[in-house]
Amino acid sequence: MEKSKIKKIFKSESISLSRFMHKCLYDKDLGFYQNNRIGSHFTTSPEISQTFGECIAIFLFRVSHDFGVSKFLELGPGNGTLMADIIRTISKISKKKFLFYLYEKSNFLKKIQSETLAKYNSKKTKILSIQNLRLKKKPYLFFCNEFFDALPLNQIEKKNDLLFEKRIKYTDGKFKWKEYLIENKNLNFLSNGDIWEYSPLTNLYIKKILNHIKKFGGGFLVIDYGPYVKKKISTIQAIYKSKKCDILDYPFFSDMTYHFDFSNLKKFSEDFNLQFHGPINQRKFLYFNGINERINILINQTQDNDVKKKLSMQFHRLTDPLGMGELFKFVFISKNDLNFPYFKKS
Ligand SMILES: C[S@@+](CC[C@H](N)C(=O)[O-])C[C@H]1O[C@@H](n2cnc3c(N)ncnc32)[C@H](O)[C@@H]1O
Repeated sequence: MEKSKIKKIFKSESISLSRFMHKCLYDKDLGFYQNNRIGSHFTTSPEISQTFGECIAIFLFRVSHDFGVSKFLELGPGNGTLMADIIRTISKISKKKFLFYLYEKSNFLKKIQSETLAKYNSKKTKILSIQNLRLKKKPYLFFCNEFFDALPLNQIEKKNDLLFEKRIKYTDGKFKWKEYLIENKNLNFLSNGDIWEYSPLTNLYIKKILNHIKKFGGGFLVIDYGPYVKKKISTIQAIYKSKKCDILDYPFFSDMTYHFDFSNLKKFSEDFNLQFHGPINQRKFLYFNGINERINILINQTQDNDVKKKLSMQFHRLTDPLGMGELFKFVFISKNDLNFPYFKKS
C-alpha cells in the first residue's frame, strides 16, 4: 500500500466514518471493490448456489405478471451472478420481452458483470447498465442482495447525556478511532450507552426508489443482513480473507459491512404510503419459492455423488436456521396488493 496515497486521502484532521468507508471500499484506485471479485474474501448467497437466483426469479416473474411490469433493476450486482440466474430462469418460463438494468458503482465489477452476462444479451432480454440511477417514468421491479450493508455509514454514541461522533484519524502510519463532541444535535431517542448507526446514502437511495414506486408502481425486493429489530450498538465489521476483523485492521483490503435497519426501511415505506411485506427470513422465502424442488431436480440430474453432496451442502448453507437461512431477511415494498400468503403486510 502506498503510504503517500493514503496520506493524500486522509490529509484532514479526521474524517467521518462514512467517508472512511467510502474511500476504503470505493476509491478509484485503492478501493476494495475496485480490486476484488465477490467471493474472494467473503461469499454471498448468489455465489453459493444458482438456486438462490432461480427462486428470486420465480418470485419476480410472478410479481411482474401480476403488476404488469417488464423492467427489472438490480442495485449492486457484484459479479452479475444473481442477474444471470434470474435472466436464465425467466427466459425459460416466458417468451415475453424484458429489460434488465444494472446499477453498479465499481468499474472493476462492471467489467466482470458484462463478462458474466454477455451470453444473455439478446433481442428478447436486453441488459443495460445505468448511471446515477437515472430512471424512466415507467414501473420497475427493483431488487438487491447485500447492497445496503455495503454503503457508507456513520455512528453517534451517547455517553453521560452527551453525543459523540465516531471519526477516523490517520497518524504515524496508523488508523485510529477518534470521538468528537456534537453540540447542536438532540437525539432524544438515544439512551446513555447507545450507538446510533445511520447511512445518509442508504436513505437517499431508499427515498428515490420509493418515490418512483409511489408515482409509477412496480416494487422493491430488499434482501439484507440483520435482525428484525436493529439494536443500538455498533454492528460494523470487516471481513478479511473470510475472517471477521476490525474495520481498522486491513483498510482497503477487507470488505466492510453492518446490520441493515429494516425498521428504518419500514418507516420510509409508511412515509410514502406504500405496502411493506415482511421481513421474512431467507429460509422461508426460498422454501416458498421452490428451493426444495429445484435442488432435488439438480440432485437427480447427476450420477456423481460428489456433485450430489455439494448441491446438498449449498442448499443447507442457504437455508440453515442457525446461519444464512435466518440471518438474511427479505422485504417487498409495493403500491399494489401482493397476493402471496407467506409474505404478509406488516
Ligand atoms: C456486498 S456486494 C453484493 C454483491 C451482490 N449483490 C451479491 O449478492 O453477490 C455490494 C455491491 O454493491 C455495489 N455498490 C456499492 N455501493 C454502490 C453504489 N453507491 N452504487 C452502486 N453500486 C454500489 C458494490 O460495488 C457491489 O457490487
